[in-house]
Amino acid sequence: MAMSRLLRLDGQNVSVVLEFALGQMPVWRHFGARLPDTLLLHAWPAARLQRLAPGTLDRLGGLPVLPCFGNGELGAPALRVHRAGLDAVQDLRATGFAQPDPQTLQLTLEDAVASISVQLFLHLCADSDVLSLHSVLHNTGSTPLTLDHLASATVPMPAALQELGSFHGQWSHEFQWTRQAVPQVGWQRDNRSGRSSHEAPPAVFVLASDAGEHTGEVVAAQLAWSGNHRFALDRADDGRLNLQAGEWFAPGEVQLAPGTSLATPLLHLGWSKAGLNGASARLQRYIRSQVLQWPGGRMRARPVHLNTWEAVYFDHQADVLFDLARAAASVGVERFVLDDGWFPARKDDRAGLGDWWPDPAKYPEGLGPLIAHVHSLGMEFGLWVEPEMVNPDSELFRAHPDWALQLAGRALVLGRNQLVLDLSRPEVSAYLFDKLHAVLAAHPIAYLKWDMNRIFAHAAGQDGRLAMRSQIPALYALLERLRAAHPQLEIETCASGGGRADLGMLRHTQRLWTSDNNDAVSRVAIQSGAARLFPLELMGSHVGPAPAHATGRSQSMAFRCAVACFGHMGVEADVRQLGEADRATLAHWIALHKSLREVLHSGRFSQGRTVDGVVWWLVQTAGQAVLGVFTVSPPNYSYQPGLRLPSLAGSGAWQARLLGSAGQARARGDAPDVWGDALRSGGGRVQGEELAQVGWPVPVMHPESALVYSFSSVPASEG
Ligand code: DGJ
Repeated sequence: MAMSRLLRLDGQNVSVVLEFALGQMPVWRHFGARLPDTLLLHAWPAARLQRLAPGTLDRLGGLPVLPCFGNGELGAPALRVHRAGLDAVQDLRATGFAQPDPQTLQLTLEDAVASISVQLFLHLCADSDVLSLHSVLHNTGSTPLTLDHLASATVPMPAALQELGSFHGQWSHEFQWTRQAVPQVGWQRDNRSGRSSHEAPPAVFVLASDAGEHTGEVVAAQLAWSGNHRFALDRADDGRLNLQAGEWFAPGEVQLAPGTSLATPLLHLGWSKAGLNGASARLQRYIRSQVLQWPGGRMRARPVHLNTWEAVYFDHQADVLFDLARAAASVGVERFVLDDGWFPARKDDRAGLGDWWPDPAKYPEGLGPLIAHVHSLGMEFGLWVEPEMVNPDSELFRAHPDWALQLAGRALVLGRNQLVLDLSRPEVSAYLFDKLHAVLAAHPIAYLKWDMNRIFAHAAGQDGRLAMRSQIPALYALLERLRAAHPQLEIETCASGGGRADLGMLRHTQRLWTSDNNDAVSRVAIQSGAARLFPLELMGSHVGPAPAHATGRSQSMAFRCAVACFGHMGVEADVRQLGEADRATLAHWIALHKSLREVLHSGRFSQGRTVDGVVWWLVQTAGQAVLGVFTVSPPNYSYQPGLRLPSLAGSGAWQARLLGSAGQARARGDAPDVWGDALRSGGGRVQGEELAQVGWPVPVMHPESALVYSFSSVPASEG
């Protein structure tokens, strides 16, 4: 038997250990807590620590780093390929490894009979402790290889992790969090919509049953991919639980020609013993330092937006937009985003997509005058586009009906009256680049809101093969080409709200439109979910109109503002129509947001929820913290226990102030508010340890109330 050795990657709190032998399939030995430098138990090969179970094959081993199909392994195969039905069994064996730096491992596996090789890459980020994995499959044979499945990675979950946290949703109801026990038969979720989706965004949390928001062992997983995907918690036949994630391929859509390769998207894993917040924080740190690519190399203060959509929809009238810009500037807006409706024939959603130049009827002198006006008011200008789409009623479609994905002999399937363009065709991407580049080159446009408003159907390319996957790299390439041509440009990823919010898009974009639902009560749940995945500075959160267009419900202006404050803040309401009091409230909260955004957009986020349904969001840096407390339903009890804030344990003394509030405390009119008054005036001092162990006192509040506090650390000499 070949001599085995251990390969390991170590972070500050995390270790990865693999058992490797030439000529064998490497196996996982550990992913989880940091292990000592010298390992003793691990010196025993995995196979020596077990005994053959009755009814099994005559061999033992651990979890293969790349489970294959057809050789007796009954766990979910990471790879399913064949050549017109042949070479359907794979038996990959290690032929080498490299550790180019202490944080990176590269394993090479080959199967000479099936004529394939795979490289598996593992990188443990020294700064964030996030483990990133991906695979590259090579067709070393002389005939085409059909790929039915190729996971980015298959990773054993620490034994105590038997619960699952995931997200579901639909339009205007994104990032709805659910937690459940992993069923005995395992769990699997496929997304086949062509975009990362409202229904099943590419992320899961796997957690111990005693884990909660702040304590317990948790693995957070996100796949950096914007198309179809599969997440599985595979309960192997021996009972072990493995996480497998990667793309989901449509039948026949991926074929590797001889000598070619396919690289999977990256799967990112954050392990923590500090609960859901701890695991989220790992990934968010990684996103900030490794995923985001800001123009100029660093994030600048996130400008407060005004988005025209819910104010005017498709009805673009110059005088209205000029007034709206004036009104927006007067409340402190810094970026005016002209949404859908600016290009020819776009009086509703039935026409125009594809014709990316200003509508001469609505904009007889082009966009220049409006942009100049916006600039004269001290704001940047942003523009909505939906480049991947075409309306049959458009000049583009009339000239190139074959550019839309479609299936010969089958009807065109419309969604919002539009079709998906085949971006993998060079002439299509070139057209889109040329048209968008022309608009961007003609005007100082700081920002594009990049929308995508339908799922795929009958989505085949010219050769009749389904072309859902090839769309995604072509989309990324188009975004990169535009960014290279316009290095200062920022882009927002939007797909009918938060239907394409993922780390694949966020490598090329700087903001995500969280939801078309601007109802602040709905937003508390939506933003709580999204904040498990993404740092607040990426999360578009707008003050919408009342009643909210998505729900018909109304909340006070202050409540809407308090919720929108915890994100990349913006306004979607028609500021022209606001009464004096609401306009002043909006201006006040925008100013407050600006004073807090440095903390909100760089600090560590954590969240909690009391038994009474009170939600809190805390963002902390070394010297500052901001706490938001929100109620959405009537209280069950007349006493509100203090909010325990575990992440402030041992953080020393803080000076606390109440900066903003919405709604009302539920108290007798004659009851003095001594604590509240103190926090509103000079403030009060607290120890971080008191906040962690005893809790921050908040009043019992009516539904749709909010309190926003700031904490400034007090130097030890003064504490
Ligand atoms: C869907 C987006 O989510 C909205 O914000 C808006 O941009 C519309 N599309 C415009 O058609």
